[in-house]
Amino acid sequence: MKLNPQTALIHAPRKAPQYINTIQAPLFRASTIIFENTDALFNRHWTDDYDYSYGTHGTPTTYTLADSIAQIEGGKYCLLTPSGLSAINLVNSCFLNHGDEVWVADNIYGPNMEHLRNLEKRYGITVKVYNPIDVASFQPSEHAKLIWLEAAGSVTLEFPDLINFVKKAKAHNVLTALDNTWGAGLAFNAFDFSAEHLAVDISAHALTKYPSGGGDILMGSVVTHHKSLHQQLLRMHAIQGIAISGDDAAQVQRSLASMQIRYQHQSQSALKILNWLKTQDAFAQVLHPADPDNISHDFWKQTCLTEQSAGLVSVIFKATYDLAAIRQFCDHLKLFKLGFSWGGPVSLAMLYNLNEMRHTEQAHLKPGLLVRFCIGLEDADDLIQDIKNALEAI
Ligand SMILES: Cc1ncc(COP(=O)(O)O)c(C=O)c1O
Repeated sequence: MKLNPQTALIHAPRKAPQYINTIQAPLFRASTIIFENTDALFNRHWTDDYDYSYGTHGTPTTYTLADSIAQIEGGKYCLLTPSGLSAINLVNSCFLNHGDEVWVADNIYGPNMEHLRNLEKRYGITVKVYNPIDVASFQPSEHAKLIWLEAAGSVTLEFPDLINFVKKAKAHNVLTALDNTWGAGLAFNAFDFSAEHLAVDISAHALTKYPSGGGDILMGSVVTHHKSLHQQLLRMHAIQGIAISGDDAAQVQRSLASMQIRYQHQSQSALKILNWLKTQDAFAQVLHPADPDNISHDFWKQTCLTEQSAGLVSVIFKATYDLAAIRQFCDHLKLFKLGFSWGGPVSLAMLYNLNEMRHTEQAHLKPGLLVRFCIGLEDADDLIQDIKNALEAI
């Protein structure tokens, strides 16, 4: 059929082949997915991830990434979301109902706490805070529905007593959700992390960090190994419309090949920097779970593979350094950039006031101003020199 120019601009003469063999999986961009005929339309099953019906449910590109993430984390099913926070919110909105009690660690990722406080105010959910290194502080009532675990926790990096928290939660029929961003599926297997093969029910992961690896893509995932949990999440995911772009999925898939090498490099650099930071007079405390002096070291050791401890290390400055001095320190850093997030090639620093962040008594933490370093892929000695120069400047 001879086409007029406007139609020819839309209907290209060459069709992409059904299959050619390439290193990276082909990229599908889709809102609309074309049905072969009405039979295919009427027999579609959008809940089946090998049945393609509309872009929000998934394409071969997004399902390829979802399967890879499920495999890395040791789970069976995975949903992808537009950010790590939306993955967390998917879990909260899927499982929490009016009257339910949810437990969060005091060192939980801050926006998760904010989301839950928002639900508490508006929907009659009760938020309870526990101490991540004291399982006795977790006292579920008969209304307890969900506990969030984070290993290691945000900013102060305590590694929780994962084994006993999960055992206690299971004994009380409480769903266990882990923010698995720090471990990334590499430091430990969230679905088989003890000699007794303990597993969390749900793992939420900010793929923005290590899987993306570039500091330039936002994405999250929710992995389970229970079909029934996955089906509930899948339906909530669909009605919330929290789909991801095929381009972003292809970029993250491409970065997965180097993730373990990057993670190991950043873990090793962080350990080297940790040991140097511990020799410095300016700091009241250096926080890293692989440090034998750390209060949560034994919990880290019993769960994680050695040498796999992410690229985060925090310092609490001695009280003699006031906010002005610490701001000056941050402003003098050259290789470390001031910014949120982690897992990318560029090292980052972020300033926090611990006194404003914790809800319960944290006897193991010195009060005060904290700087979290996120170690990138630069040479560790250069990063040490950068911190040294900034310390000398104040
Ligand atoms: C532990 C943790 N979980 C989740 C998130 C949320 O990820 P995103 O920035 O993709 O929303 C972050 C982001 O900093 C994080 O640090």
